[in-house]
Amino acid sequence: MDTTIVKVIEENIDESIMAKAGAIIKAGGLVAFPTETVYGLGGDALNPDSSRKIYAAKGRPSDNPLIVHIARWEAVDKIVADIPEAARLLADKYWPGPLTMIMRKSEEVPYETTGGLDTVAVRMPVHKTALAFIEAAGGYIAAPSANISGRPSPTTAKYVIEDMSGRIDMIIDGGDAGIGLESTIVDLTGDIPMILRPGFITYEMLVEVLGEVAIDPTILSADCKDRPKAPGMRYRHYAPKGNLKIVTGDRDRVIEYINVNSKSDSSKGLKTGIIGTDENIDRYVADSIKSVGSREDEDLIAHRLYTILREFDDEGIESIYSESFEDGGLGQAIMNRLLKAAGHQIIELYEEKRV
Ligand code: TXA
Ligand code: MG
Repeated sequence: MDTTIVKVIEENIDESIMAKAGAIIKAGGLVAFPTETVYGLGGDALNPDSSRKIYAAKGRPSDNPLIVHIARWEAVDKIVADIPEAARLLADKYWPGPLTMIMRKSEEVPYETTGGLDTVAVRMPVHKTALAFIEAAGGYIAAPSANISGRPSPTTAKYVIEDMSGRIDMIIDGGDAGIGLESTIVDLTGDIPMILRPGFITYEMLVEVLGEVAIDPTILSADCKDRPKAPGMRYRHYAPKGNLKIVTGDRDRVIEYINVNSKSDSSKGLKTGIIGTDENIDRYVADSIKSVGSREDEDLIAHRLYTILREFDDEGIESIYSESFEDGGLGQAIMNRLLKAAGHQIIELYEEKRV
């Protein structure tokens, strides 16, 4: 399949390109598009064949449901069976934006889109190109992240092209995704709203609107015996090709541990990489050393994380050590993705063993 690649500037959207992209979706085709979180791989959410094609293009298990993207609040009426009050409150405050809400689905939404579930994930992105594309396509775009299953979500068109060229009809290049991590997912179908995936809209921001909010206990812990409630969080995900380990604890011991172990891996003939922060970056020794930014700037860390993981893949890095990050606020999303990328390999170095 020939994939058309077009550049669209968010501040000056070319409506004729939007019309073409919309026509592709209405004809059952697939278009990758920019959002404020990561790039999406879009198809018509109300057409079961489109959803099947999305799973095929990504190489994704078809029991892993897709998020339905809308461009206006009124669109929820058609796809949601009963709209909880919490959804109205959250939409008022955080839509359009990087927040996905799980609600009971209506009969209009095919099971192919929801991976067989009676619930549907809905999100209204804030990216202007995404909104124009959704409108042009009829208002309901099913879209997972536009990566091959198991690779980091693409934060720039270059990586969408790498993963999706030849597999889909069109790629809309809108430059860098601002946030760089996928949306927060909150399940509104239970008694208490529950975060299934942490993101830019933090626990604290949800509590501000809803009062009580629960967190799926599997999000930050590998020890937890329960299965994650978002099917997609069960699969190994965001995985770089190299073996990634996270090192946490006292600063000097972390740096020493990383250097000693990188050196040892290097002497075994492995290509080594380190993910550090501006505060420590000058103290490392390895084949490839990358800073995600200052520890003070979590927005930048979120923005850079997936790109760094992809760059290590491009460089053929086989052994990677990463510093760890605070896990409050946006740090919760950063640590959640990093832990998943590392297959939960974490080395703890504290002067006194924590209890
Ligand atoms: O930021 C984002 O959310 C991006 C952009 C493109 O909008 N999309 C994205 O989609 O990250 P995806 O498919 O990579 O991740 C969707 C997650 C999966 O973990 C999936 O299992 C979960 O949402 N999900 C979707 N529908 C669900 C449902 N009805 N119940 C529970 N989890 C659901
Ligand atoms: Mg994904």
